[in-house]
Amino acid sequence: MIRSENLRSGYIQDDVEQYLYELLPARDAVLSEMEAYAAEHRVPIIGPAVARLLSLCAQVSGAKRIFEMGSAIGYSTIWLARAAGPKAKVHYTDGDAANADRAREYFRRAGVAKRIDVQVGDALELLKKSPGKFDLIFNDVDKHQYPAALRVALPKLKRGGLLITDNTLWSGKAARPAAADDGATLGVQQFNKLVYASKELYPVLIPLRDGVTVCRKQ
Ligand SMILES: C[S@@+](CC[C@H](N)C(=O)[O-])C[C@H]1O[C@@H](n2cnc3c(N)ncnc32)[C@H](O)[C@@H]1O
Repeated sequence: MIRSENLRSGYIQDDVEQYLYELLPARDAVLSEMEAYAAEHRVPIIGPAVARLLSLCAQVSGAKRIFEMGSAIGYSTIWLARAAGPKAKVHYTDGDAANADRAREYFRRAGVAKRIDVQVGDALELLKKSPGKFDLIFNDVDKHQYPAALRVALPKLKRGGLLITDNTLWSGKAARPAAADDGATLGVQQFNKLVYASKELYPVLIPLRDGVTVCRKQ
């Protein structure tokens, strides 16, 4: 069984989704503990299937300057830091200081603390204020903020850089009419329209777990 609701897409048949997770190699002790913690405490992490995609994107693109918007306990951060290697810098951001404290401890135990810069605050503001441009930006903030996150991220991305965004199918709700007060679904829908309409981006929405969109800046 898929042990966390977190990992269930809501639109892929259960047995197919379970098959997909069963194929994945076991994670090390730190990542396994984080997955268990996230399942128990309902922390919405990307999980190992999407994490592998994130890691693959970092590896093939050779990204070294990475900014993460919405890092929670640092699960996706560790995958990015390991994929990008010892010369990389991954910027962790989260609005919750307790998440950051927990993440710091995981980073130390995972042996990647030196390549991660931890900042607590609003990820959009922190990205705006960060000097220079990034090779890869991973967007996983609250979903109603997705259009605003895109506006902030685009100028901070290098040409040829990747903007990767999680939850772009939002349990399938992105594909269906949204209620006027459902800011999260409306935010995801608007984000999806904006990236596919953008002349600066080349997006692909991958229906893996909750939907992941990988965009290359042209
Ligand atoms: C989906 S979780 C991130 C999970 C993480 N990326 C992972 O997969 O391991 C979203 C996190 O973003 C934080 N968050 C949401 N909006 C934010 C914002 N505007 N600025 C900073 N943090 C934000 C929340 O506190 C939450 O911890």
